[in-house]
Amino acid sequence: MSSIGIIGAGNIGRAIATALAKNGIPATLSNSRGPDSLADIVAAIGPGITAGSRKEAAAKDIVFVAVNWSKLPAALADLPDFGSRIVVDTNNPIEAPLFKPFDLGGRASSEVFADMAPSARVVKAFNHLQPHLVAGDPASEGGKRVLFYSGDDAGAKAEIGALIDRLGFAGIDLGSLAVGARLVQFPGGPLPALNLVRFG
Ligand SMILES: NC(=O)c1ccc[n+]([C@@H]2O[C@H](COP(=O)([O-])OP(=O)(O)OC[C@H]3O[C@@H](n4cnc5c(N)ncnc54)[C@H](OP(=O)(O)O)[C@@H]3O)[C@@H](O)[C@H]2O)c1
Repeated sequence: MSSIGIIGAGNIGRAIATALAKNGIPATLSNSRGPDSLADIVAAIGPGITAGSRKEAAAKDIVFVAVNWSKLPAALADLPDFGSRIVVDTNNPIEAPLFKPFDLGGRASSEVFADMAPSARVVKAFNHLQPHLVAGDPASEGGKRVLFYSGDDAGAKAEIGALIDRLGFAGIDLGSLAVGARLVQFPGGPLPALNLVRFG
C-alpha cells in the first residue's frame, strides 16, 4: 500500500489524518514547528498516525498538503523532487482574517499550486468540505458523502479515487485540474461547501 504524508496539521490536515486513522491507514503528520509540537495531537487522533518532519511527510508516496495559501511556498520549499509521486492539493486561495481572495492571474488555484510542486502528479481533493465532515462518518442519509477529485494524471486520480472509496466516501471525478479544480475552488467555483450525498 502507498505510504501517506500530510504537510499541515491544522483543521484540514488533522481531519484527513482522522479519516485515515479510522480506517486503519497509517500516515505521517507534519507542521512548521516540528514533530515534538504534534505529540498530543497524533496521540489523540489514534494509532497509525505519527508525527514527522515536513521533509519526512513529503517523502511519502502520497503527500497531502493542507497549509494556508500564503504559506504554501515555504511549505513546499527545499524538498527533494517529487518524481511523479502524488501530491494532493487540499488548499483554497483565501485566508483568515481578511478572506480576500489571492490574485491567481485567472488560473485555477491548483494550476498555481502545481507550479510549486514540480514533477508531482497533482490531484485536487479534500478542499470543499468543512473539516468535521471530512473527519466524521461519511455514511449519511442512507448514502455516502461525496468527495470530489480532479487532476491531469489518470493513474494518480485512480489512486486517490480508490483511497476516497476506502475511507467510505463517494468519490466523483471532475476531470482535469483546469476544469475540475475550478469547479471546487473556493471562492469562485459552484461546488465548495456543498454537503452532497450519493445514493447507490
Ligand atoms: N478550515 C476549513 O474549513 C478548510 C476547508 C477546506 C480546505 N481548507 C484549506 O486547507 C488549507 C489548510 O487550512 P486549515 O484550516 O487546516 O489551516 P490551519 O488550521 O491554519 O492549519 C495550517 C497548518 O499549516 C501548517 N504550516 C504552515 N506553514 C507551514 C510550513 N512552512 N511547513 C509545514 N506546515 C506549515 C501549520 O503548522 P504550524 O501551526 O506549525 O505553523 C498548520 O498546521 C488551507 O489552504 C485552506 O484554505 C480549509
